Amino acid sequence: MFIADSSRLMLSSLLLGVMAGRTAAFNMSSNKNLAVYWGQNSYGASNSDDTAHWQQRLSYYCKDNVIDTFPIAFLVDSYAEGNLPLIDLANTCNSGNANYFPGTGLLNCSFLASDIKACQAAGKAVTISFGGGAGHIQFRNDSQATAYAKTIWNLFLGGKSKTRPFGSAILDGIDMDIEGGSQTGYVSFLTELRKLMNRGKKKYYITAAPQCPFPDAYIGSTLNTVGFDAVYVQFYNNYCGLQHYKNRNDWNFATWDNWAKSVSPNHDIKVYIGAPALPAAGSGYVNSKTITSIIRQTQSKFSSFGGVMLWDVSDAYGNHRYDKAVKKALKN
Ligand SMILES: *[C@@H]1O[C@H](CO)[C@@H](O)[C@H](O)[C@H]1NC(C)=O
Ligand SMILES: *[C@@H]1O[C@H](CO)[C@@H](O)[C@H](O)[C@H]1NC(C)=O
Ligand SMILES: *[C@@H]1O[C@H](CO)[C@@H](O)[C@H](O)[C@H]1NC(C)=O
Repeated sequence: MFIADSSRLMLSSLLLGVMAGRTAAFNMSSNKNLAVYWGQNSYGASNSDDTAHWQQRLSYYCKDNVIDTFPIAFLVDSYAEGNLPLIDLANTCNSGNANYFPGTGLLNCSFLASDIKACQAAGKAVTISFGGGAGHIQFRNDSQATAYAKTIWNLFLGGKSKTRPFGSAILDGIDMDIEGGSQTGYVSFLTELRKLMNRGKKKYYITAAPQCPFPDAYIGSTLNTVGFDAVYVQFYNNYCGLQHYKNRNDWNFATWDNWAKSVSPNHDIKVYIGAPALPAAGSGYVNSKTITSIIRQTQSKFSSFGGVMLWDVSDAYGNHRYDKAVKKALKN
């Protein structure tokens, strides 16, 4: 009861914001976008006692104009019980606070429909991200992958199904954060999905989150064949990460910019700097002063630059609103 009432209040205040002209619709052509992953409670995983900064429901992060798009992390498995996918949203939707659709391993998180709609009403695009470090997004062959496009369309996008994890909310697209396995069927899946999207009632997006070593081992050939809207290149946990941005042989944004303009089937594809939002395990975190200078240089030098991707929103809020510093740099 309390939750329903407060989310309704939040929705109406966001709508008032829209009517007052404070928000604009998401613009993929902009070079000032901030994409931040939501869903995995990354902060909670490394700060088990600081529960105040654990992941909140999605709409909590849509109260200001800082973040432009949220990929929801993750759809972890392409097929499970009932031939349906699995999703994992950490503390926000799990078997302790939600139910599975009967006969499936798919969580019914329909209570998040109001959150997604509130964020969209505030001009933000919300997509579902496939994969992640533990992801298993695999097809046997092209015909299976082609058929899967319809499944995803019906579960998350403009189609219809009794087993929609986010109920009546219609997401704005998908993101491929593939970090293992084989690319069999990916081109067929995405080509068919794009056809369904093009026939839809609104604009939908397909993005990917390759790792910076070029070409990417797990999504590279797909990226060369299908027109994506944006790539959120993970410039972390690798020699080519942000920690080496001063060394032109390591930090390779120029390689990705060149690929965008000359190889990607969509020459207008946007390339984002993907960065960690908190100094944690792994490499690539830089402080807000350093990322500000990297953003300004990259934005002025590369026409493919689309903005910044951060992993993840709980870390950004837990790290003194690192997302705000990044957005400030983007807007300059
Ligand atoms: C989207 O951004 C591009 C690039 O900055 C700009 O030219 C265009 O006018 C923007 N579109 C809208 C609808 O604001
Ligand atoms: C999904 O959950 C909602 C809210 O708990 C419930 O009203 C709905 O009946 C569930 N859908 C199915 C198909 O179980
Ligand atoms: C493709 O894979 C599916 C699922 O395993 C299988 O049912 C189908 O027979 C396969 N089709 C071809 C043409 O191999």
